[in-house]
Amino acid sequence: MRLSDATFGEPCLSGGGGDVLTRFGAMTAPRFVTLLNEQIGHEFSAHQQYLACAVHYDALTMPQMAGFFYAQAMEERSHAMMMVRFLLDTGARVELSGVAVPQTRFADVVEPVALALEQEKRVTEQIHALTRTAREEDDLAAEQFMQWFIKEQVEEVASMSTLLAVATRAAGVDALEDWVAREHHDEGGDPTAPPAAGA
Ligand SMILES: [Fe+2]
Ligand SMILES: [Fe+2]
Repeated sequence: MRLSDATFGEPCLSGGGGDVLTRFGAMTAPRFVTLLNEQIGHEFSAHQQYLACAVHYDALTMPQMAGFFYAQAMEERSHAMMMVRFLLDTGARVELSGVAVPQTRFADVVEPVALALEQEKRVTEQIHALTRTAREEDDLAAEQFMQWFIKEQVEEVASMSTLLAVATRAAGVDALEDWVAREHHDEGGDPTAPPAAGA
């Protein structure tokens, strides 16, 4: 049973000031809550950037690469919604922010993949910083929550590195499309993934 499914008496959320008292009266470390709210913004920015990459390929009539990036965009959105769910479940305040304006113009078919790899490396650092913060604050639930994202980032950096290598060496657009069609398929849901808000 998730926290959100339980029946509680009067919620004891304290008002104002970004307080994060949960329904149990336990604290989610405020430093972690601040960073996780920022990360929600980063994940939505990643969603927008991958959407821009997908549209670039779609406009070039490259449905395989477009499909790959549309799916990546949805993954980033779902990462954000998992973080929203965690904050809600622990009684912490969710602060939604604006998102960064994505790059929408690219010189060729390789540049979006290179940009994506840099983005995944940056997000990996952010996820590690969040995990370190949870550890420093001795917030075991927060630290446990971050474990799935550490694994996910290893996969995403590896997947983008491979795609960049293939895009760089591919002898033309059709060779790249063929490779994505052959090697990338929908892997279905990950049963170990944290629950997402709205799902
Ligand atoms: Fe992500
Ligand atoms: Fe990602």
